[in-house]
Amino acid sequence: MEDKIKDLQDKLSLAYSGGGQKRIDKQHENKKLTARERVEYLLDEGSFEEIGALVTHRTKDFGMDKQQFYGDGVVTGYGTIDGRLVYVFAQDFTVFGGSLSETHAEKICKIMDLALKVGAPVIGLNDSGGARIQEGVRSLGGYADIFYRNVQSSGVIPQISAIMGPCAGGAVYSPAMTDFTLMVENTSYMFVTGPNVVKTVTNETVTSEELGGASTHATKSGVAHKTSSNDVECLEDVRKLLSYLPQNNQETPPKLEYVLTDEIREQLSDIVPDNANKPYDMHDVISGIIDPDSFYEIHKDHAENIIVGFARLGGKSIGIVANQPMFLAGVLDVNSSKKAARFVRFCDSFNIPLLVLEDVPGFLPGTDQEWNGIIVHGAKLLYAFSEATVPRVTVITRKAYGGAYDVMNSKHIGADMNFAWPSAEIAVMGAKGAAEIIFKKEIKEAEDHDAKLKEKEAEYAEKFANPYSATERGFIDEVILPKDTRRKLIKAFAMLEDKKIERPTRKHGNIPL
Ligand code: HXC
Repeated sequence: MEDKIKDLQDKLSLAYSGGGQKRIDKQHENKKLTARERVEYLLDEGSFEEIGALVTHRTKDFGMDKQQFYGDGVVTGYGTIDGRLVYVFAQDFTVFGGSLSETHAEKICKIMDLALKVGAPVIGLNDSGGARIQEGVRSLGGYADIFYRNVQSSGVIPQISAIMGPCAGGAVYSPAMTDFTLMVENTSYMFVTGPNVVKTVTNETVTSEELGGASTHATKSGVAHKTSSNDVECLEDVRKLLSYLPQNNQETPPKLEYVLTDEIREQLSDIVPDNANKPYDMHDVISGIIDPDSFYEIHKDHAENIIVGFARLGGKSIGIVANQPMFLAGVLDVNSSKKAARFVRFCDSFNIPLLVLEDVPGFLPGTDQEWNGIIVHGAKLLYAFSEATVPRVTVITRKAYGGAYDVMNSKHIGADMNFAWPSAEIAVMGAKGAAEIIFKKEIKEAEDHDAKLKEKEAEYAEKFANPYSATERGFIDEVILPKDTRRKLIKAFAMLEDKKIERPTRKHGNIPL
C-alpha cells in the first residue's frame, strides 16, 4: 500500500508541475500567471478541489504517445468564491500550447455537466492555441461538445470566460456563447482567423493586437465586456462580477445588509442642465442613486451612448440601462441597441431587476445606420424589454422622444413603475423640429420666419416638453424630485419583489437576430 501511495504522490506532483515547465519562465516575463496560480487566485483560499488531474491524451499519431502530460493541458475542478460554489477550468499553455484535445474537452465537459446539474456558475480561464492539431477531427468534436453545453447552460447558470492568452479559430465561439467575456490587455487576443490568413485572403496587414486584442474587442467589436491590465486584476473582476449574480436562474442574487435612512440625495438636483441641448454625465445620476461605489460597468468603452452595468440599491442587485447624453447625445444606434438588449436579456434570465434611466433624443438617422440594419437591431432592444418579466422601473431624466420613448422600458411594453423628473420632455420629437413640420405653412407665410418659428416652438414646448401630459394619461406614474429618486426606487423595487408573470406556452420567441 505504501508503494501505491508513493506512486500516486509522484504522479500528482508531476501533474501539478504542469508538465511543460519550460514555458513558465517565458510567461512570467509577460507577467502572466500559470494555470494553477490563476485557479488559486480566483478561488477562496484552499477551496479548490481538482477533478481529472491524472487524465492524459489518447493520441498515438505524430509521436504523441511519447509526450504525455498529466492533466492534458487543462486544470479543472470546483471551489468557492465568497463561499459560493463555482466550477472552473484553466487552460495550461505550457502543455501543447493549451491546445484542446479530445480528453482536454472531456474534462471541461465533465465540470460543465456537473455545474448544470448542481446549478452553479462555470468560469473558463482560456489560454490556448486552439484545436490540438495532432488530433484532427477529434479535437473539433471536443469543441462542439463544449459549444453544445454552453447553449444548454445558457440562461440556467452564469457562464463567464476570461481570456488570458491566445484564443483563436473556432475556440472563440465558446466564450462568445457565455454570458461575459473578460480580456487581459496586451497578453490576450481573440480572432476567428489570424493575421497570416487575413494577409493571404484580404491582403490586409494587421497585428494580432490590432486584429483581436483586448482594446479592439472592448471598443470596436464589443466582443469583450471588460478588460483588465493583468491576470490578477482580471481574476478580481470575475470574483466581483459574480457577487451581483445568483447561482442559477431559480435563485435571486445575494443581498447585502442595508439599513434604510432618509435616502434623500440632494446632489441629484443639479445634474441636468437648464439648457436641454447641453450634455451631462449620466454616470453622475447613477452614482447619485445607487449604493456608494457599487457600479460594475459592462462594455464601458463600447457604444458609449448607452451605459449598462450592475449596481446595488439598498443592498440588492439591479441591472442599469441608461442613455448617456455625453456621447452622440444619448441616441439609440445599432451598437447601443445590441449592447443594451443583450444586457437586458441577461438580467431577465437571472432574476436581476432592471432600472432604466432615460434621456434619449431618438434613433440616430443616416445611411450608415439604415444600411447596417438599425431597424432590426433597434428591434432587439424593444423585444428584450418587452419579454422581460423581472421588476422593471424607468426614470426619465430629460428627453424621451419618438420611438425611443417606447423602446426605453415604457409602460406600454411592460414596465412596472415609470417616474419622470420635472425636467422630462416626453414627445414625438424636439420642439424645434416639431414646430418646423406642423407649422411649416404659417412660418413660411409669416413676415419674420424666425420669430414665428420661435413662437410656435414655444407653443409646442409648452404643450409637450414636460412630463405632465404623459402623467395625466397614466403613462408616467409620478413626477418626482431628483433628490427623492433613490428613496422612490428602493420602495418601488421592494414593492415589486414578488412580481410574477406567466407567459403563454411556446417553444421560444423569435427575437430579430
Ligand atoms: C498543438 C500547439 C498548438 C495546437 C500551439 N501548440 N498551438 N500544439 N496544437 N493548436 C504548441 C506548439 O507546437 C509549441 O509546442 C507550444 O504549443 C507553444 O507554441 P508556440 O507557437 O511556440 O508559442 P507562441 O509563439 O506563443 O505562439 C502561440 C500561438 C501559436 C499563436 C497560439 O502556437 C499558434 O499559432 N498556434 C496554432 C494556432 C492555430 O492555428 N490553432 C488551430 C486553430 S483552428 P513546443 O513543443 O514547441 O513547445 C481551431 C479550430 C477549432 O482551433 C474549431 C472549433 C469549431
